Amino acid sequence: AHLPLDELIAALSVDVLDFPAPGIVFRDLTPVFADGPAFRRVVEGLASAAAADPRAAALASSGDGAHAGFDVVVGVEARGFLLAAAVALDAGVGVVPVRKAGKLPRERVSASYDLEYGSATLELHTDSITPGQRVLVVDDVLATGGTLAAAIGLVEELGGVVTAVSVIAELVDLGGRQVIAPHTVHALWTT
Ligand code: PRP
Ligand code: ADE
Repeated sequence: AHLPLDELIAALSVDVLDFPAPGIVFRDLTPVFADGPAFRRVVEGLASAAAADPRAAALASSGDGAHAGFDVVVGVEARGFLLAAAVALDAGVGVVPVRKAGKLPRERVSASYDLEYGSATLELHTDSITPGQRVLVVDDVLATGGTLAAAIGLVEELGGVVTAVSVIAELVDLGGRQVIAPHTVHALWTT
């Protein structure tokens, strides 16, 4: 049987109690990445949300990503990298990394933020986004929203237009969707 994608993700993901800190229910999506057909459907699902976003159609583009609805994919270290490269390759556009502090060698912008189990700083190379470029931001999990809010802020600081934000899993009770607003997040699975 061909399960709906949200049911397939739910079936493959594993809940881990008290990781990485007491009281956290960690949604481990590594089995979703490890399953070939599931990974393909996830990658296609993340990209198609962006293509359907009305903001993407409103911005003219003649680049390779014209039909995809985005000109570049931004992925957030580390789990977002696995997704961003696959989505970009599938769409025929480039991929840009948002990295944890201290990893990018050249001129960069930085943003500090809190996440469900700590705090961190994200960075983006200043010349990696062209003003007006349409950007799809992807990550695996939307929890409190701190990570994606910081990544979106960095893209916008460089003049990028975030036309879509896609995740595999949205942990609804943590309220990340409200933190990302007015950007809308497309989640393949809400839990
Ligand atoms: C996880 C996850 C998201 C973020 C979501 O990454 O991959 O990026 O947390 O949490 P938030 O919505 O509360 O900000 P983590 O920082 O654990 O890093 P990793 O990808 O390197 O494991
Ligand atoms: N990132 C932030 N919170 C998370 C959780 N509960 N499970 C997996 N990834 C996360």
